[in-house]
Formats: sequence, structure tokens, C-alpha cells
Amino acid sequence: MQLSLLENRDPRPDAEKRVKELRTLLQYHNRRYYQLDAPEISDAEYDQLFRELAGLEERYPELLTADSPTQRVGGVPAGRFRTVTHSLPMLSLENATNDEEIRAKLDARVKKELGLAESSAIPYMCEPKMDGLAVELVYEHGVLTVASTRGDGVTGEDVTKNIRTLRGLPLRLTGEDVPALLEVRGEVYLSLDAFQKINRDREENGDPPFVNPRNAAAGSLRQLDPKVTARRPLSLYCYAPGLVEGASFASQQEFLNVAAGWGLPVNPLVRPVNDVGGAVAYYHELQELRESLPYEIDGTVVKVDSFELQRELGEKSRSPLWAIACKFPPRQAETELEDILLSVGRTGVITPVARLKPVEISGVTVSRATLHNWDELAAKDIRIGDTVVVERAGDVIPAVVRVLKEKRNGTEQPSLPPEHCPECGSEVVRIAGEVALRCMGISCPPQIRESIKHFASRGAMDIDGLGDKIVEQLLSLGLVHTVADLYRLTKDDFMRFDRMGDKLASNLLAALEASRKCDLARYIYALGIRHVGERTAKALAQAFGSLDNLEKATVEELTSVRDIGTTVAQSIFTFFNNPDNRTVISRLKEYGVYPAAVAKTVGGRLSGINFVFTGALTRFSRDEARKLVEDQGGNMVGSVSRKTDYVVAGDEAGSKLAKARELGIAVLGEDEFLELLKRSEK
Ligand code: IVH
Repeated sequence: MQLSLLENRDPRPDAEKRVKELRTLLQYHNRRYYQLDAPEISDAEYDQLFRELAGLEERYPELLTADSPTQRVGGVPAGRFRTVTHSLPMLSLENATNDEEIRAKLDARVKKELGLAESSAIPYMCEPKMDGLAVELVYEHGVLTVASTRGDGVTGEDVTKNIRTLRGLPLRLTGEDVPALLEVRGEVYLSLDAFQKINRDREENGDPPFVNPRNAAAGSLRQLDPKVTARRPLSLYCYAPGLVEGASFASQQEFLNVAAGWGLPVNPLVRPVNDVGGAVAYYHELQELRESLPYEIDGTVVKVDSFELQRELGEKSRSPLWAIACKFPPRQAETELEDILLSVGRTGVITPVARLKPVEISGVTVSRATLHNWDELAAKDIRIGDTVVVERAGDVIPAVVRVLKEKRNGTEQPSLPPEHCPECGSEVVRIAGEVALRCMGISCPPQIRESIKHFASRGAMDIDGLGDKIVEQLLSLGLVHTVADLYRLTKDDFMRFDRMGDKLASNLLAALEASRKCDLARYIYALGIRHVGERTAKALAQAFGSLDNLEKATVEELTSVRDIGTTVAQSIFTFFNNPDNRTVISRLKEYGVYPAAVAKTVGGRLSGINFVFTGALTRFSRDEARKLVEDQGGNMVGSVSRKTDYVVAGDEAGSKLAKARELGIAVLGEDEFLELLKRSEK
């Protein structure tokens, strides 16, 4: 009875209600987390709400809206960014570098232009000058519709999908009085913590680190794949209106207040002052505060507060006469480079680190500085014993800027790249196309800890309960040296740990046991091969079918797999041909950890059918499309040829669509493609 009731009821109205609830909840928790820095729920609880919403939207696509919190992630990689012309040009600012210049270039000039007495007082708005990149957001009837970079000030790039991934930014403005059109400008930036984390990851991957948070923010925002942007915790502060219809503001102060009321992030350090004296005092105060801020600022911006006066003053050579950027002096110091140390990271990247004679830079004692990599060391000709200029360029990890060669006395010693790992003595290699030097030993201590954590992680072997704390204890008790050792552990071993109960120990053993029968893709991913993420692991599993085949694969065979280029192929080949890695894999096999072979998808309904996707897809992402096609045995190919069976065209499809028409190939819209899939499923 109950069952039939459930079956007959239309679930839509409930879903609609819950979707609304979830959106409100997620928006609320986003704000607690990102704007107020006071989360109320755990990340796991947040994820659960998020997944529930995404699940409902997937089942009821008609409930999906552009301002849903789920639309912050995902989306379609574009190929290149569309350009957007700003309704009003985005100007830049003239600089002042000290108090006198603030008075002369701003205050005195403003009074002269306005015909005011030198003794009169102009009210200003003072703001931190965020060191990021300028963007313009367009809200139409309160909904974020377009976001673009500053570009050359006249046209910028359409980064709407990427901007939507910024968690602290409302996709819909709050309040009754939202205007019909609000263009708002602001600065996208990365916190120092986020910047350091990104660089640590990059160095681990052998990618050159970003030199400062600004470059990292720009690099992160201008990602063609919004999913990459979504993983970079970018933030934004709004600082100026563009074109506005349906609202007006008398002053910058009023604008910022109203914008904050609509839910837009506004820097809490902004401050109105009565005259230029106040602006100068603010400049000094912020310089003091600068070191304790969690993000980088490179000065302050002082603006004539009244919009009427701003209009009267106007602009000259692309800078407004009513504002000025007051830049801070660089934070540098001279010191002696005493030694060059080697540091080994998670994936074996060996980084040269300068040991410095301790020196204070704006309140912080600096005794270490990163030298990034050996190329940089050679390019700057940095030697042990050199006097160097050290800079804290926004990052807390200082960098050596340059050598004062004139201070050399001939005793300085160059430092050569190591041939063996300083931690484990293994061979050091430089993989083609990378700047980093890497220790190839799988049993190198700093690498082991992280590789075990990775092996056990959810997307990999998913060994429930084997978290950071347990891994640390396994290592400190000397119970585990490689991932293979995990499968030798007994209950007694676990019982030696702090706060370990019988139940927990049994669960851990059960989780380990369960992971013995893993699937091939997860196993490949779990090995932690450089450049092999979950997606590549899946492609490898699909292409080679078994671990044995993969182990034997040549670079040539590897490169023939979709999306695998020479760098990745080389990395996989090197991994499987390293004797230590071979030992670990064969020991895993001995302990019964042997991934099941997978059958390639053959004979699906779309078997042998080639699809090309082009233009901006809105119903599904390119990755999702690929999955849909491949699940039924079809192929997704990059370019249109006579072998193409269907071209699926989204909005603004260009040359591929033209080519398809020219060759007489069937062109489908997104909905027609979904129809085709449904038909082929039957
Ligand atoms: S106002 C016409 N306010 O500095 C005035 N700019 O050199 C436009 N910036 O491109 C800028 N923080 O990227 C303004 N509080 C702030 C700012 C700020 C950072 C950047 C912005 C702009 C550059 C001007």
C-alpha cells in the first residue's frame, strides 16, 4: 500500500522545496565559512548537503539554476575565453610612493582642478590596494550573469564560469532593492595560505612555482577548465561600481555599504577620512598592518569620496584624477647565504633551500629562503658565501632575489645539483621537460609517509580508518616501510597504538582485507605515479586491462592511450621500471593485493561511432559527455573528419561545426544527443 502511494506521488514538489532549502543552507554556510571565517558545520557535513543538492539537480535538471551553489564547480572547458567589452572602460591608477606624493599628486591637484582653497578639506575613502587582478562582475536583476577580467581596460576575457567557483561571492544578490543592472569591479586574490599550498603542490609535481600570490591568482582564474579554478581557493573584494541601472550612490562610502548589504564582499579595512592627513595616516597604519594580513596588499588606494566630485574631476590618460594608488616600499634585506640545503618533498622533488644569516625583514626574522630549483640557482649564479638580497614578496617563504656580486671575495662556492638523494641515497633524475630534480626511491622516508596516505585515500584504495594519525604511528613504530607492509599488519600491531580499541583495530584489518580485491583504476591511481590522477588511471585501466600489461607497456604504447602525452608516458614507464617500485608491486601481489582485470567496453550500442563535441555545452560537461559516449562503447574525438559520425554542437560552435556541415556530417544539439543516447540504451 505504502509502496504504491510512493510510486504514484509526483516527487517534484518535494524535490523543489528541498532544493530551495539546500541552496539557502549552502549559501548560509558558505558565508559563515568564507566571509565570516566562523563555520558552523564540518566539511563533511557541508559536502553531504552539497551532494544532496547536486543529486537532486541531476534528477530534476529543470530545477537547476545558474545561481545554484553547485554551479560554482564544473562547467565546460572552453578552448579559449570569449572576449567581453566593458560597458565603461576599466581605468588604472597613478602611483604615489610616499606622503609628499599623496599630497601633491592627489590632494593638491584635486583642489586645483575644483578651484578650492589649499586649506580646504576633501573627504576621501581609503582602501587597501589588493594585490590580485581586477575583474568586473555583471549582476542582472540580482543574478550574476557575466564576469570578465580587466584585460586592456576596454575588453577582457569572459571568466564567468571560473568566477562562479569563488565560494565567497554571491551568485545572487540578497535584499529587496537589488538594481536591474549592477556592474561591480573588484580584485580577485589568493590568501597567503592558499598561495603556499598551491606552490607546495606545484613543486611536488615538478611544476615551476608561482612567484607571488598575484600570479597564482591570475593563473588560477584564467584556467580553461573551471574545475581547476574551483580547487584554488580564490577570493574577491569589491571596490568600485561600473554601469548601474536602478540604483544610485552619492559616494564611494555609500556604494561600499550598499554593496556589502547585497552580500558582496567588501574589505572590512576600508575607512572614510576627513582630509588628506587622514589618508596619509591610513597609509602608515596599513603599512604596519600589512605583515599581519592573511593576504597580500601592495599599498592603499585613496579616492575622493563624493561621486559628484569624482564626475567633475574626470580622468586623464586612462587614470582618474580623483584617486591614487599609494604604493608600499618593497620588503627586502641584505644578508649572507651561509649554505645551500636540500629538502625532499612528498613526491621526491629535491628543492635547494638557502640557509641565511638571520636577518629581519619588516618584523620577521628570516633564516631560510627557497631557491626554487637548480635552473634558477644557475641562472642567478647563486653561490654559498654570497651576499644576497632577500625579499618577502607577499609569501611568508622568502626568496633570494639576486646576488650582490660586487661583494664577492673569491671564496664563494657554487653548489652543484646532487646525484643522490640526501635522505635515502637513491639515484636522482631530472625528468625531461621538468625543472625539478627528483629522488626515484620509493622507500625514501619523507616520501613514504605521504605515499601511504595517498594509497589509503578515498579515491585510491579507500582503506577506511587509515588516516594521518594511524600512518604517523605506523611509521614511528617502524611497522611500515612501504605500502606493501600495510598488508602484513596484525591486530597486535594496531593494539600497540595510542587510544586503539579492539573494535577499531578489527575495522582497520577488515578495511585492509577489503582493499585486496580492488579495481585496477583505483590501484593504478593509488600507486601515486607522477602525473597519474584518477582520470588517467581510469584511461590506463581501460586501455591495458590488467596490471601485468601495464607493467610491460612501452612509452610508445602508453602514448597511444587517449590523453596521455610523452611526459606522462615517460613518468609511467620510469615508475614501473624502477627496481624498488617493482619490488613493492610484487610484494603487494604476494600479499594478495591484485587488482581485477577489466574488460574493455566492446559491443556497446555506440560501438565504433565517433563523436565530436564543439561549442559551449550547457547540459553536461565535456567530461560527462565523454563518459556518456564511452559507456556505450562510442569514441569522443577532437577533430572533425570524414570518420566522424556525429558532431554535437553547443552554443557558439565555430569552425568544427562549419567543417561538419561541409562534410555533410550529422549535427546534433545537446538535447538531441541525449535523445540519441536514450534510444541507444533501449
Ligand atoms: S580602484 C579607477 N580600488 O589596482 C579606479 N583598485 O592600478 C580603479 N586595486 O586595476 C581602481 N585594490 O586591479 C581600486 N581598493 C581598490 C583596489 C584597486 C586593488 C587594483 C585594481 C586596479 C589597480 C589600479
